[in-house]
Amino acid sequence: MKTIKLHDKEFRLLIKEELIDKEIKRVAEEINRDMKDKEPIFLSVLNGSFMFTSDLLKHINLKNTEVSFIKFTSYCGTNSTDRINSLIGLNEKIKGRNIVILEDMIDTGKSMEHLINTLKAEEPASICIATMFFKPKALKTGRIPDYNAMILENDFVVGRGLDYDGLGRNFPDLYIIC
Ligand code: IMP
Ligand code: MG
Repeated sequence: MKTIKLHDKEFRLLIKEELIDKEIKRVAEEINRDMKDKEPIFLSVLNGSFMFTSDLLKHINLKNTEVSFIKFTSYCGTNSTDRINSLIGLNEKIKGRNIVILEDMIDTGKSMEHLINTLKAEEPASICIATMFFKPKALKTGRIPDYNAMILENDFVVGRGLDYDGLGRNFPDLYIIC
């Protein structure tokens, strides 16, 4: 499918699924290498990271791998807003643990900064960030991700877990707004 329509907007194919798969596998291999013997807990940030989490974890072969799902939202339509909600779903004890945050996208970095500050209060041993997509030119605050599968320009995209007002998350390819 070369173009799709979601609500009022058209999107065209930007990146084929095979390339995204390949880069996610590379990230998994980097994490396997760096996290050997660290027994990390993966914290997947819902909703957008559900597909990335599944794709990445299939290639993770670390001892005692744990994954947990957390959630907060900061996005409305096609523009990042300043509204940041509180974090839900953090049930595991993370004190003293090595954490790998799994994000679908780092855009302005605001959500990530807020998440890291929240997690730091729980005194983990370390926190690192793995993101499927990273828009470096949009980054306003926070850290550059430790691992990223693909770098993007500042355009709004959907697919691969990313949505436009609730739609488009299911597409295995990535689409860009027309
Ligand atoms: P940030 O706080 O601006 O870094 O954005 C955080 C979240 O906004 C990401 O984790 C995504 O879920 C969402 N987001 C950012 N850019 C896009 C996009 O291009 N399409 C869909 N969602 C996006
Ligand atoms: Mg997200």
